Amino acid sequence: MEKKFSRTLITTALPYANGPVHIGHLAGVYVPADIYARFLRLRGEDAIMVGGSDEHGVPITLKARKEGVTPQDIVDRYHTIIRDSMKELGITFDVYSRTTSDIHRATASEFFRRLYDQGKFVVKTSMQPYDEQAGEFLADRYVVGTCPKCGKDGAYGDQCEACGSSLSATELINPRSALTNAPITMRETTHWYLPLDQYEEALRKWILDGHKEWKTNVYGQCKSWLDSGLQPRAVSRDLNWGVPVPVEGAEGKVLYVWFDAPIGYISNTKEILPDSWETYWKDPSTRVINFIGKDNIVFHCIVFPAMLMAYGDGFQLPDNVPANEFLNLEGDKISTSRNWAVWLHEYLKDFPGKQDTLRYVLTANAPETKDNDFTWADFQARNNNELVAILGNFINRAVVLTHKYCGGCVPTPGELTDIDRQLFADARAAGEAITSSIENFHFREALKNAMELARLGNRYLQETEPWKVAKTDPARVDTLLWAALELCASIAVAFTPFTPFAAGRLAAMLGMGSMDWEMIGSDSILAPGQSIGQPELLFDKISDEEIAAQTDRLERIKKENVIKNFKAEPQAPDVDFDTFCRSDIRVGTVLECSKVKKADKLLRFLIDDGMETRTIVSGIAKYYNPEDLIGKQVCFIANLPPRNLKGIESRGMILSAENADGTLTVIGPTAPVVPGAQVK
Ligand code: 2FM
Ligand code: ZN
Repeated sequence: MEKKFSRTLITTALPYANGPVHIGHLAGVYVPADIYARFLRLRGEDAIMVGGSDEHGVPITLKARKEGVTPQDIVDRYHTIIRDSMKELGITFDVYSRTTSDIHRATASEFFRRLYDQGKFVVKTSMQPYDEQAGEFLADRYVVGTCPKCGKDGAYGDQCEACGSSLSATELINPRSALTNAPITMRETTHWYLPLDQYEEALRKWILDGHKEWKTNVYGQCKSWLDSGLQPRAVSRDLNWGVPVPVEGAEGKVLYVWFDAPIGYISNTKEILPDSWETYWKDPSTRVINFIGKDNIVFHCIVFPAMLMAYGDGFQLPDNVPANEFLNLEGDKISTSRNWAVWLHEYLKDFPGKQDTLRYVLTANAPETKDNDFTWADFQARNNNELVAILGNFINRAVVLTHKYCGGCVPTPGELTDIDRQLFADARAAGEAITSSIENFHFREALKNAMELARLGNRYLQETEPWKVAKTDPARVDTLLWAALELCASIAVAFTPFTPFAAGRLAAMLGMGSMDWEMIGSDSILAPGQSIGQPELLFDKISDEEIAAQTDRLERIKKENVIKNFKAEPQAPDVDFDTFCRSDIRVGTVLECSKVKKADKLLRFLIDDGMETRTIVSGIAKYYNPEDLIGKQVCFIANLPPRNLKGIESRGMILSAENADGTLTVIGPTAPVVPGAQVK
């Protein structure tokens, strides 16, 4: 097949260095990009994969402020965690750098300056929210106040989360700074804008006419942006963290983080290829592929291409932007602030040596066309039922049988029969299917086809039964196990992009030399006579206990979040003291407590109230074992009129406090008191 391109530049979205990376980042960007890069390299193509941390932006400054450290401290911490954990997962960046590097500052600065010098920006002055106490302008998101639409407090300057309305900071009632809680003022400020409207026609042509082959989610989002008309976008901000705007009189202003971050792809390429980086960016025979998540589509398909068009000088636009949708976790949106995530660095600690399992599960379940859900039950099932029971099982059988019947060496085949020839034909077909799926960025499909190789192997052994043939026709066994081992070698190649650790161990077990993608389905990868290694399990089962530890953690986090988000009810209107005093609140000791038949919410109490034994029915059965309450002292309202509940006369009401999650806790004295004591 004639190749249209001479080289490929793979870029991966730069993760913000305000937290570690989680499975959503991995499934959306880094695992598919790495599969693609490893695939191209195995085909002997010239491909580089660039990545790095996105270290600017307001959230980083806020986190620093909250922790009382500098933004540099924050990005140093997370850049290290992100870089090291991705390396451990086997993501093979040719460079993983950062946007606080000197080379990036210089590159981003020069990029802005050239557009500035060529008059590509428009300058606009506007009124922006300002925090007098902090001495800072505020992004809309960092202004809070009362929503003008629904009246709830705690709405943000860009959106009210209670009613979903889009807002601007100036619409809020009583707008305050999220930094200091001080009331905001409005101040005049000047910024540089990239007039996206001027690039609209060129972008329409390039994407809507020229890239109909892009994924429908990507194409559709671009079309909807373009159809609603592009507006100029500010490319600078009033902030003291970022790349300074390289213009006289622009003190206190930095490049907007979304202006400098994609330039990071260029800086990172320069960092590893100081002399030849331009070939990867400006030579028309280079193909640029941007791996990103769906929230980044507009920046990669509209804003950054417009920046490159404005810059000119031969910069190539991306050839494809295979953006993924989102991965959810156990049914809920992944969220860094709510700690609702599986963090890569924690996974690597909890599941040492199981990088491949995570890579496999995230690929098998990748959110390629729609949002998908990661569950620990699915993770365990895919590991145990697919990696262990299908893939690991075939390899293990082939290697164990070779040791048993062929002295641990690759046997020399005799004459092939139809079933043997069919095995290789099927393997070649699977190989072609993997290739075309990867070429089209359908990684789930590609992995399914790779697993087909292992399924073929298991079926072959099942049908040919070498352990039976050994008794009658030892020469035939040589052919059968030779074929099985050749298929193992194909598997080692085909799985290198997906599960590189297991693939590497398998290749070593088989004594394979260098690998080449074209080997998949071949019948002459291995040298007959060569000894192979001892059988070694490529994958281990994951136990129920390991999974329970993870689901327990998530349960804990869910509870913590409910408590963190608890907002006390507004105080009730005043009552006068005499009214209050008419409630007779007492302490009593629980003598008996039991469930009420046919009423799963109710408990029946017998209480020593200092005068007599009183019956009270209370709706707290969901929260207590009745036995645990016997002997405890509780507070109750004594002078309520009797009520009939399920045929029981209840005389009073036991007091409970309602927790953030709706559970009830009975209220009693903190030290024993005499039954009948009045609460005052
Ligand atoms: O959404 C994000 O996490 C951004 N930090 C991605 C930036 S991609 C790029 F342009 F560098
Ligand atoms: Zn609202």
